[in-house]
Amino acid sequence: MSFMKKKESEKIRVLFVFGTRPEAVKMAPLYRTLQKDAHFEPLLCVTAQHRQMLDAVLDIFQVRPDFDLDIMKTAQTLSYITTSVLTGVENVLKECRPHIMLVHGDTTTTFASALSAFYQNVPVGHVEAGLRSFDMFSPFPEELNRRLVAPMASVHFSPTPANRENLLSEHIQAPIFVTGNTAIDALSYTVREDYTFKSPALQNMPQTGDRMILLTAHRRENLGAPLRQIFTAVRQVAEEFPKVRIIYPVHPNPAVRTPAYEMLGSLPNVRLCDPLDVDDMHNLMSRAYLVLTDSGGLQEEAPALGRPVLVLRTETERPEAVRAGTVKMAGVETARIYTLTKELLTDASAYARMAHAANPYGDGHACTRIAQALLYLFGCGDKPTDFVPEP
Ligand code: UD1
Ligand code: UDP
Repeated sequence: MSFMKKKESEKIRVLFVFGTRPEAVKMAPLYRTLQKDAHFEPLLCVTAQHRQMLDAVLDIFQVRPDFDLDIMKTAQTLSYITTSVLTGVENVLKECRPHIMLVHGDTTTTFASALSAFYQNVPVGHVEAGLRSFDMFSPFPEELNRRLVAPMASVHFSPTPANRENLLSEHIQAPIFVTGNTAIDALSYTVREDYTFKSPALQNMPQTGDRMILLTAHRRENLGAPLRQIFTAVRQVAEEFPKVRIIYPVHPNPAVRTPAYEMLGSLPNVRLCDPLDVDDMHNLMSRAYLVLTDSGGLQEEAPALGRPVLVLRTETERPEAVRAGTVKMAGVETARIYTLTKELLTDASAYARMAHAANPYGDGHACTRIAQALLYLFGCGDKPTDFVPEP
């Protein structure tokens, strides 16, 4: 689809649609960038697929939505999210008729809002386009979500050259810009040497020399047995290394919270807490000895902060940091997670091999490149140069 014509005197009306914590962390810096440029009129529709976790990010970045679909329910189903977003976004599009709508990544908000825009003949720009795990069931349903957005999008903003290659191999015809990931831009808003933690759970933090493991786990395909296997490994590590502190901000999904508190709640060196504000989270990560996670975003942020990551999944759509040596796939089996964690706690050279900063996902200028690409597409500026990762 070609881009909507806009009158010369008009600003470029860009409707952002997002709904979950990770989308907000990665889209808020872009929204702020467009706000500062007089060519743009950015508008924001939140689906609130997440409520508390979304609002917390909006507060930190001081971003106010123009439309709020407020859809979140306890234990919501994928069909419920899809249908509520599809119809909710349609109404917003009819009201504000943007020149382009931007979505991010692979959530159900992303897929359903892109479909809504496609039906309304509004061009879609896909931020964080082209990530692929090549397994339709892992991550579930994210691999399908992002694949379905690809043919609907009129422009793709791929974080890395490999992401662009994935789109080209699917014969995607629309323009693709390699921009870096806006997650790396977000870190410059949050990470400070002299940062003071706000959360009560993060008071009396370990002193220099003490080791702290940051744990997060929430993915749908890990709910049930895999999550219990992960928690068993964490328990074994906590018991064997009583001086190592493990901090786990627990996702509010009851299917995560219940087993987390049951299996890890009584260990003296494991601290479970509510989700952290993103500035607390990023600064905590920058001080962690090691990160254990099934999150996508943490796989990008921790390498940029020089922190080794063990990924609690069997695949990843982010192979760049695995290649750079700062991330290892630990899977979801207790024995392997335990063994790899123990190795990093006891073998200094194994640790040193992983603990170096790597920036395969961005240089902190992704938002500027995306803004420049939009100006170019609407005939108001030059083509941006692609992000080229360090070799
Ligand atoms: C969603 C995304 C996933 C992303 C994750 C980030 C889909 C299909 N999944 O999964 O890609 O990695 O967000 O965290 O889009 N809840 C609250 N308060 C909140 C947020 C969630 O109570 O602020 C609870 C609710 O009971 C909700 C449940 O968590 O029903 C699950 O939320 P949902 O967005 O459906 O799934 P996530 O696992 O968070
Ligand atoms: N995050 C946060 N507080 C937390 C856990 C995560 O602010 O308690 C941030 C994290 O730093 C990253 C984003 O949320 O920026 C990742 O979200 P999540 O892991 O929920 O989703 P995913 O990236 O797996 O889709």
